[in-house]
Amino acid sequence: MKNLLERINKLKQEKNAIILAHSYQNIEIDEVADFVGDSLYLSQKARDTKADIIVFAGVYFMAQTAKIISPEKKVLLPNLNAGCLMADMINLNQIIEFKKQHPNLPVVCYINSTAEVKSECDICCTSSNAVEIVKSLKASKVLFVPDANLGKYVESQLNDVEVVTYNGCCPVHDNVTEQNILDARNKYPQAKILIHPECKPTISSLGDYIGSTSGIIDYVKNSQDNQFVIVTEKGVADRLKRDYPDKEFILISNNMLCESMKLTTLEEILYSLENEVNEITIDEDIRKRSSNCIQRMLKVSK
Ligand code: 13P
Ligand code: SF4
Repeated sequence: MKNLLERINKLKQEKNAIILAHSYQNIEIDEVADFVGDSLYLSQKARDTKADIIVFAGVYFMAQTAKIISPEKKVLLPNLNAGCLMADMINLNQIIEFKKQHPNLPVVCYINSTAEVKSECDICCTSSNAVEIVKSLKASKVLFVPDANLGKYVESQLNDVEVVTYNGCCPVHDNVTEQNILDARNKYPQAKILIHPECKPTISSLGDYIGSTSGIIDYVKNSQDNQFVIVTEKGVADRLKRDYPDKEFILISNNMLCESMKLTTLEEILYSLENEVNEITIDEDIRKRSSNCIQRMLKVSK
């Protein structure tokens, strides 16, 4: 393992490369990562870096987003099978059809989507800025793709905006039940329950805090409490246990595992960086159009 880490770190220096890692990655990836965080944070780092190569320890849409906003950089995804089940729920034809069914409305696109889908949308958002982004449109009605749960959560936070949602979801978060939360409240009455907004809105409303992966981590950092129920992917609970060994973290269920996020290994990071393989490429017309959607978000969420 030590040798593997040394080789990756040496290659990063030689090639002027950085490694961006999502908080759902296997925890050992943090050993080589330059930045670890949520989707918004990582896209801001991809935009700002002076590196020539970005190795994305995450899923396909994240690496694609990095390439869209930094086309002059080489973006590598160490395991090309690392997709996102939610992003795969809507394709180009389906977004075009959805827009036809609801004409003349601004279209907000969750970052968990393909470049083709983004190219048909007006503005992008992540789970940490979705409310802010929809609000910034100053519209009374918007379309929101692909995550119905996040879209309805946004609607619940804004008094005067109707959010028409596409029927997509993250199967990992969508599986959490009201009973899971009620059981956790009963079993850990002192605990704060921290929930990702990809869960159903009926679940989110039962939590003490609702926010992105980084939002949940920041909540713990700023809290005097000692016990937390974590309602998002296991990687967040793993990192919190590592960083706050004196506090207790309970993962809401053993099913909170995103298999795609766990595909990437240190060996694959080394291989892709050494050989500069698994490079992300995007059709230039699609890239430019999807870039507008992401850049518009990044202007609102600096
Ligand atoms: P955030 O990184 O915005 O918390 O989103 C979680 C997620 O599901 C990423 O795929
Ligand atoms: Fe996609 Fe859900 Fe995995 Fe996030 S946790 S990458 S939304 S499948």
